[in-house]
Amino acid sequence: MKNTSLQSVRALSGIVLLALVLVPRRSEAASIVGTKHDLSAMTNSAGQVCIACHTPHNAQTAQLVPLWNHSSTATTFTLYSSVTAKSTPGQPTGYSKACLSCHDGTVALDSFGGKAPAGAGMIAGAAKLGTDLSDDHPVSFTYDGALATANGGLVSPASTSHVDAAKTIPLFNGKLECSSCHDAHDNTHTNFLRKSNAGSALCLSCHNK
Ligand code: HEC
Ligand code: HEC
Ligand code: HEC
Ligand code: HEC
Repeated sequence: MKNTSLQSVRALSGIVLLALVLVPRRSEAASIVGTKHDLSAMTNSAGQVCIACHTPHNAQTAQLVPLWNHSSTATTFTLYSSVTAKSTPGQPTGYSKACLSCHDGTVALDSFGGKAPAGAGMIAGAAKLGTDLSDDHPVSFTYDGALATANGGLVSPASTSHVDAAKTIPLFNGKLECSSCHDAHDNTHTNFLRKSNAGSALCLSCHNK
């Protein structure tokens, strides 16, 4: 009896995971495996790569990212500011906090699924942005036509969900987030960038300079 219900739970989560894999347009699994976001070695879950960040059940809703599975504890970050910027960066919203749940260096990498960290360590070195974001490109603010006009050196976004008509550079609820420049699932362009930054092409997707 116990065995059968375990099997049906497994079968059910298999279907949900399959659905997760089938929904995206990209072949996510193929591109995460072997990258720095392949944390399957520490998940102890038969080579599962998604589970360090997503779960089919009991997800954390505070992070906004679909079916999020990684704990986050920091609440106050030091924000970017400058005399020329027209935007007002806010405290990181769920989309950027999802990345920061590992990259602020305050939560163990293997603290997913409510699991107590097994001492697999905190992120370190250049990949640790820390909780001081004043030296990082601003995130978590609305990027729209009004900001482009006020700034004078920005491309006006094609829509509230993408900067460019080709939909390579997404906005999240109209906001610029870490994932506007990065795709955590795809390391084709190194540094998980949405597009190659050769010739500063990524920067010039948004900046008219
Ligand atoms: C290192 C963390 C990380 C890993 C590992 C990861 N994801 Fe994600 N995923 C994210 C983040 C962050 C977002 C939200 C930003 C976005 O949409 O790109 C997201 C969004 C998604 C979305 C919704 C938006 C979209 O792009 O379609 C799906 C579906 C998804 N992930 C599936 C998967 C699957 C399947 C795997 C395993 C093969 C996986 N992810 C592994 C971080 C991760
Ligand atoms: C579950 C933990 C986790 C989450 C969530 C996560 N990362 Fe990472 N990321 C890592 C680890 C571990 C590394 C490797 C760090 C190292 O090399 O020391 C890494 C490396 C990177 C690198 C450097 C890649 C390289 O080739 O050097 C980038 C860029 C990056 N992550 C961006 C992101 C962004 C953007 C998000 C959110 C969309 C995100 N990460 C979410 C764990 C995570
Ligand atoms: C405006 C675009 C943009 C935004 C927004 C952005 N990044 Fe990046 N990020 C880049 C680029 C470009 C690189 C590669 C830098 C290089 O080649 O030296 C990079 C590199 C990184 C690296 C690797 C650092 C290293 O030296 O190993 C990490 C980790 C990272 N980003 C995480 C994040 C996180 C987390 C966020 C959100 C808080 C974020 N990024 C927001 C453009 C961006
Ligand atoms: C997704 C769009 C996007 C991308 C890609 C992008 N930026 Fe930005 N960047 C912005 C927006 C929007 C602002 C906020 C401008 C403001 O507040 O007036 C900004 C702000 C800045 C600022 C601060 C401006 C100030 O007045 O303080 C600098 C510098 C900058 N970006 C450089 C870069 C570089 C370099 C790259 C490439 C590595 C890059 N950006 C990629 C959209 C982007």
